[in-house]
Amino acid sequence: MSTQHPVIRPRRLRTTPAMRRLVAETRIHPAQLILPVFVREDITEPAPISSMPGVVQHTLDSLKGAVRDAAAAGLGGIMLFGIPATRDAIGSGATEASGILNRATAVAAAEAGDALVVQTDLCLDEFTDHGHCGVLDARGAVDNDATLERYRDMAVAQAQAGSQLLGLSGMMDGQVAAVREALDENGFADTAVLAYAAKYASAFYGPFREAVDSQLQGDRRTYQQDPANRIEGLREAALDEAEGADVLMVKPAMSYLDVLADVAATAQVPVWAYQVSGEHAMIEAAAANGWIDRDRAIRESVTGILRAGAGAVLTYWALELAAAEAAA
Ligand code: PBG
Repeated sequence: MSTQHPVIRPRRLRTTPAMRRLVAETRIHPAQLILPVFVREDITEPAPISSMPGVVQHTLDSLKGAVRDAAAAGLGGIMLFGIPATRDAIGSGATEASGILNRATAVAAAEAGDALVVQTDLCLDEFTDHGHCGVLDARGAVDNDATLERYRDMAVAQAQAGSQLLGLSGMMDGQVAAVREALDENGFADTAVLAYAAKYASAFYGPFREAVDSQLQGDRRTYQQDPANRIEGLREAALDEAEGADVLMVKPAMSYLDVLADVAATAQVPVWAYQVSGEHAMIEAAAANGWIDRDRAIRESVTGILRAGAGAVLTYWALELAAAEAAA
């Protein structure tokens, strides 16, 4: 009697493309992809963003086509960012119905109908002349509680414009509870809140700063988290869930997959991740140099984020990935 070794051969399940496809644990579905979309006030044609190949700043008009494309691709949603022509200390453009983000939201909501979820970035940084995510106190520090008052107004303005899911990305303490209360008091009990719960002070936001023409001098380390901290990410996520967040997000994605996995394992709400501008730019730049296979790297990066536990991913490649899945 002779037993052949090894008897257990995991490679059996890797022998053919059909077998590999059958046993794949993670799939990319268009419904779990969300496309971030930039809309700029003072332009007449879509403007490319040099550090983000393939991504543009839209006009209000070209936004309509982008929404139609996203809906046709079956995406789960779009996340809107506005780039105003003028800025001030309190980010007035964020709360005015005529502000670019609120106008863009109305345009997108009308175009989207029920085809996808129109979401909006709720943060002051695009609208302030100092580039911070909140208003400043007399000494120039970001004033948490004064900022919450601005966020409350911004939430109501965005809900009025037709946003269905508000992306709270400012990392102020208590922002979810403040926004939830403002929405409920103003008749928007059905408007949902996506909390950028664990958001780190990351170098990978670099290209985004070009995308939104950021005015920031210095950094956001007094409100965004220290990349060194994992437990703190769990704490932030738990707080936001307790304050009433409907969805939690971890951001950036690739360098924080441990935090993502931790939060996904414990949260009682959906957990998403944001594959940010620098993650996009790195792969595009390496591919442009011929150093990596672009399409495989894109798929692998998003697959990794989903595998780590994300229920959905914000990615600048959402349209491309959805098309690739449809063709596969
Ligand atoms: C804040 C915001 C930022 C991003 C999304 N929302 C910038 C920041 O926190 O500095 C970054 C997204 C990206 O890099 O793709 N409004």
